[in-house]
Amino acid sequence: EKLVGQEFSIISFCDGENCAHFPPVQDHKRAYHGDLGPNTGGMGSYSCADHLLPFLSAADVAEAQKINEATAAALLQEFGEGYKGILYGQYMSTTSGQKVIEFNARFGDPEALNLISIMESDLLAMCQAVASGTLSQDHARFLPMATVCKYAVPSGYPQSAVKGCPVDVTAVENQDLLYLGAVAEVDTPQGKVLHATGSRTAGVVGVAPTLEDAEKIAEAEANRVWGAVWHRRDIGTVRPRTNLSLLAP
Ligand code: GLY
Repeated sequence: EKLVGQEFSIISFCDGENCAHFPPVQDHKRAYHGDLGPNTGGMGSYSCADHLLPFLSAADVAEAQKINEATAAALLQEFGEGYKGILYGQYMSTTSGQKVIEFNARFGDPEALNLISIMESDLLAMCQAVASGTLSQDHARFLPMATVCKYAVPSGYPQSAVKGCPVDVTAVENQDLLYLGAVAEVDTPQGKVLHATGSRTAGVVGVAPTLEDAEKIAEAEANRVWGAVWHRRDIGTVRPRTNLSLLAP
């Protein structure tokens, strides 16, 4: 079934019976500005202070959350044992509702970087509640802040990424919101340096009361990742997305 719309992610923790939902996030998987080019692991992502997305109403979010809950319930019914862990639902918001693209039994990357950065409740306590079967929505509380994550990636990524080029992340101002990815620490005569190993190098996250300000912070931080790397400047600017099917010959 071909689905036309906007993709978004709803991550829920499950304790076998109950789910605690994280706010929706939109990832940008295409490599180039304007959502063009080859697919990647995700070039960056954003979430909004109202815990909705510009194209998603509260009812749309609730619809997707209910699908996650129904999926957890179906797993319990199918296997006679509840699923304990992270249920990461990837959705397409279409004119006929929220449609499932896929489920993963893991965090979304980069979505997790957005969400962990504004988590108000305690992640460890939530994991303990998953283990003990006492999970409630109160375990997943988030600050009313917008987030933008941008990944710096090696030159040539994804098809022909350069490997082994030095990168310097020391200029990134908020080191707490710097998430290293495909890097290796290498001993050199000048001391230890980081080398990009070919996939997404480092994610930086901007957090602010508005999406506009969160984007500005993330953009400035991404520019502080030195080396033969680049990032998408448009993530978090919520520009109209290109409908690739219109460009097809
Ligand atoms: N955000 C894409 C993924 O984690 O698979």
